[in-house]
Amino acid sequence: MKGIVLAGGSGSRLHPVTRAVSKQLLPVYDKPMIYYPISVLLLAGVRDILVISTPVDLPAFRRLLGDGGELGVRFDYAEQAAPNGLAEAFLIGADHVGDDTAALVLGDNIFHGQGFATVLQDQVARLEAEKGCVLFGYPVRDPGRYGVGEADETGRLLTIEEKPAAPRSNRAITGLYFYDNDVLDIARTLTPSARGELEITDVNQAYVARGDARLIDLGRGFAWLDTGTHESLIEASLYVQVLEHRQGVRFACLEEIALAKGWITPDQAFALGERQASSGYGAYVMDVARRAGAGARPDDSD
Ligand code: DAU
Repeated sequence: MKGIVLAGGSGSRLHPVTRAVSKQLLPVYDKPMIYYPISVLLLAGVRDILVISTPVDLPAFRRLLGDGGELGVRFDYAEQAAPNGLAEAFLIGADHVGDDTAALVLGDNIFHGQGFATVLQDQVARLEAEKGCVLFGYPVRDPGRYGVGEADETGRLLTIEEKPAAPRSNRAITGLYFYDNDVLDIARTLTPSARGELEITDVNQAYVARGDARLIDLGRGFAWLDTGTHESLIEASLYVQVLEHRQGVRFACLEEIALAKGWITPDQAFALGERQASSGYGAYVMDVARRAGAGARPDDSD
């Protein structure tokens, strides 16, 4: 499976904060926002990732993330000239996806919950065996602000609507989408919506029409956090701070995930932490690497 992180847009709802800085580079407590959606792809086992952003912002993402080699993954970059809609990711990223399956995640979506990695890996495996798409639903108080899905008891999506005035359910469709390779052809057939965008909901509707769209319910014990307003952004930071501080672990630590996946060695992880040793994040990476055996020599166990 190939990954795409869409991190463009104008960020106008957060102006003036985002006039000179991309929204997806703003901090969510102790790390840039884009670390969170990237961590979702890594947890799913997706190592080949295209980052799409505006021509102005793309160099900053490249500076932050590099080519991914240090994490044992691969990051490529592509420009979206204007915010023409989420589904444009599959026109821009067609060569990147090739003949593989694809995962799209929005660069401002934050997910957190027990067992999420297993859910992700199960769905990747299922999608590689079966056709269709997998969407992730989350109960919200204000579904009319999102794509809204309605599923039968088996999880097959029956309807999906973008920001409906009268939502048929309280299930928001989150910004994480798994597709079979047909998504590339579907994206090519789209026409812009009334707001002039290639809508991801139109892609999803094509799968619903085929009876091929599945909804995985993330449930109320899970956190899918909003970053669309100053209030929700600070709430997301506080959520991360409270849990990280209480548990002594960090979410969305890319080095820790790469180490746990076996993509880098403990010594490599330690070196990545050491480069940022004066921050709590860097110290954490060094600590995780040490516990995994970094610096251990054969005679250390004597
Ligand atoms: O967050 C989940 C929701 O995301 C879904 O429930 C909706 O179905 C989906 O349409 C989308 O709704 P939003 O109203 O959040 O979309 P928005 O236009 O705000 O774009 C989401 C992010 O993607 C935002 O950070 C900007 C970025 N973006 C947006 C567009 C339109 C791009 O990078 N390129 C674009 O062309």
